[in-house]
Amino acid sequence: MKAEKSSQQNMDSNRLHYDKLYQNVNVDSILKVLDNLETYMATVTSTHISWVGMYMGDFQSKVAGMDILELGCGDCRNAAILAALGARVVANDISERSCAIVAVLNDSYPFKHPIRFVSGDFTTSDLPAETFDFVIGKAFLHHLTLDLEKEILKKVAYVLKRSGEARFFETAVNSKVLDELRWATPMNDRPSKWFQPKAFKQWEASDPHPPRDNSSAHYSKVGHKFFRTVQITPLGIFERFNRLLPINQNNMGHFKRKALEFEAYVPLTIRSFGARSQVVIYRNPK
Ligand SMILES: C[S@@+](CC[C@H](N)C(=O)[O-])C[C@H]1O[C@@H](n2cnc3c(N)ncnc32)[C@H](O)[C@@H]1O
Repeated sequence: MKAEKSSQQNMDSNRLHYDKLYQNVNVDSILKVLDNLETYMATVTSTHISWVGMYMGDFQSKVAGMDILELGCGDCRNAAILAALGARVVANDISERSCAIVAVLNDSYPFKHPIRFVSGDFTTSDLPAETFDFVIGKAFLHHLTLDLEKEILKKVAYVLKRSGEARFFETAVNSKVLDELRWATPMNDRPSKWFQPKAFKQWEASDPHPPRDNSSAHYSKVGHKFFRTVQITPLGIFERFNRLLPINQNNMGHFKRKALEFEAYVPLTIRSFGARSQVVIYRNPK
């Protein structure tokens, strides 16, 4: 089991990790996306699970003219897309590289409302109460310690308009067996926990995810502390097996789209048990 870190240590290791990762973000590729936005969104919101989740319920049609705070904006691709769709976007990340990317994007694209960047720890920011129609995060909450997550959600409830919505796309761990299977499967730079235990330990030491509960039950429980309405949608019961099947790059998009469409016919409890990801929606701040 990975050693626990304090919230500050966890923030520091995330900052270090992502400063390095975002050193060479290709802003031109983001600008290309903005120039072909409709085609890009049609593709990613039907085949790429994080975009399917983040934009669930035709989210892109709801954002023009809205005040949106994106936490953990990362390479700023999503912040740029929202701004190109006409939203007033405030972006936040612990990595200062995101700030530099926002500056280049604002200089290079005629956004109706340029993106504003709020740097560092959002819990210490002085954003006023009831400011945002949406507060969102794509693969963000599961990077926080449970203590910091509580502080952040408290502040999210504070800055969200009473009629607003907080929306997070997160990893889901609702089955120990499926989770072990995931660690057993090597992926990109991550070795197999079962078959390459030494290399896995080394990889784990530099991985910025804190050891924590990512079950749907957890996101429901912590959400209810600060919001009256919590809605969790599990995703990916079939899509998660794409790496184990003999699928080539040419038909990967087709497989993922069909897998994500088909799961709508599966009962919720089964989908929840097998989910790889989840969309967490909080409304009615307390
Ligand atoms: C997995 S990445 C997701 C980035 C982006 N949302 C995306 O979908 O590509 C997690 C992001 O959360 C950021 N992060 C981690 N801890 C944070 C914190 N305490 N405050 C703000 N951002 C944080 C990281 O720097 C990183 O950019």
